[in-house]
Amino acid sequence: MKILVLHGPNLNLLGNREIEQYGSVSLDELNKQIYRLAQELGMMAEIIQSNSEGELVNAIQEREYDFLIINPAAYTHTSIAIRDALSAVGKPAIEVHISNIYKREEFRHKSLVSEVVKGQISGLGTDGYLLALRAAHNILSK
Ligand code: DQA
Repeated sequence: MKILVLHGPNLNLLGNREIEQYGSVSLDELNKQIYRLAQELGMMAEIIQSNSEGELVNAIQEREYDFLIINPAAYTHTSIAIRDALSAVGKPAIEVHISNIYKREEFRHKSLVSEVVKGQISGLGTDGYLLALRAAHNILSK
């Protein structure tokens, strides 16, 4: 079971950026937690962070994986290209947001990708990625 985890723009700043929204865990620490849990669950994980919409689209199209966990960050609210890539590839995916996008500015309330993913986790902090990993494991084990 291979899981691809995609972090969108500005998530490289995790731990330094708007700590009240995104917490103090750095991207490196979070990625270590993801790799560790994936190993415990007997799954392989590949993690990519990109600030570029095109690179995220390429990763969705070109990487090999059974399940995608994606935080498209600001592209959640703007990117028809990412939505179309998810829809075209048709692999099961979970959308993760560290903050609760529905409690924030109105422009964050609309996700263009939520209609083409299995589910969404929003507002549970960086633990959302670990919960998504457990859900992916349960879904793939069925
Ligand atoms: C985010 C929420 C987005 O609105 C924002 O642009 C981000 C991060 C989150 O994880 O809470 O960069 O996806």
